[in-house]
Amino acid sequence: MTVSGQSVLQIRELEISITSRCTLACDNCGFVVPHQPTPYLDDPISEISDSLTHLHRAGVRIASLAILGGEPTIDRQLLETVLRTVARIGIAERIEVVTNGLTPRGLSRLALHHINRLSVSVYGLGAEIRDLYRTWIGLVAPHVELIFRESDDGWDPWAEGVKVSQSRAQAMFDDCWYRRHCTTLERGRLFVCSRVAKLARDEEGLAITSSTTINDLRSYLSQPVALPSCATCTPMMGLDTVPAGVQPDDRIPRLEAKAVAWLTTAISTQQGRIV
Ligand SMILES: C[S@@+](CC[C@H](N)C(=O)[O-])C[C@H]1O[C@@H](n2cnc3c(N)ncnc32)[C@H](O)[C@@H]1O
Ligand code: SF4
Ligand code: SF4
Repeated sequence: MTVSGQSVLQIRELEISITSRCTLACDNCGFVVPHQPTPYLDDPISEISDSLTHLHRAGVRIASLAILGGEPTIDRQLLETVLRTVARIGIAERIEVVTNGLTPRGLSRLALHHINRLSVSVYGLGAEIRDLYRTWIGLVAPHVELIFRESDDGWDPWAEGVKVSQSRAQAMFDDCWYRRHCTTLERGRLFVCSRVAKLARDEEGLAITSSTTINDLRSYLSQPVALPSCATCTPMMGLDTVPAGVQPDDRIPRLEAKAVAWLTTAISTQQGRIV
């Protein structure tokens, strides 16, 4: 593909975690919370800005860029600044925030202004909070597509210590759904999938610098040989799924009650402003 003579590489979906912190502690979290490595080396804003700028200049375009964590709404200012930065660079056709929905106060109006889609993962959220989200988004950011991600079929298990042969690892890599849907950028590196990033296998990623070329990126993303991480990849082993979003305590109903109160006030304030 070329645009004005420049060769372009289209990435279907790129994920960027802005924090490893989370309000929940889901059993089998696919992003290994609470043991997720910090997704930046020093400063998240400048690292995300530099990496995306280098990718953009090299000729990368992203169809859908997802901002997640941990929980991306846990730090309102950080989320807003990251979204402003991503929008300014103009590398992504669509920007999405993926959240557990329990801290809506972390979504400022400016943050919502820069996103196209808000995906709320449903771990037992009731009908009331979903209705409140629909009303609130309809009032403050009607351009945003709001979706609720259900996990009725369960999650892929994230067990430790299971290892398959090299030939099986290669077959898993060849079939891998994740590497087609969750290319990941963190710590100044591109990773074929979020799992390698979350295992902090930085040597299996590609460092992104001002010298990175589109051919470097193509070679990395279309490498034919399985990575060392693939041999232990339980999500691709076809194991039985596990229940999604299971917590060690009652934190979901506690946080949900607070979120309901916050959304109710936000809606009534907003309705007051409109009147
Ligand atoms: C890791 S979370 C991060 C964003 C936010 N904390 C949330 O839960 O939506 C991103 C998405 O991964 C999904 N996910 C988490 N662990 C998973 C697993 N073991 N298998 C499949 N999907 C998983 C979640 O349901 C969520 O939609
Ligand atoms: S909400 Fe659950 S799935 Fe999302 S990052 Fe936190 S622990 Fe992981
Ligand atoms: S570790 Fe390998 S098999 Fe597992 S998700 Fe990543 S690329 Fe796919």
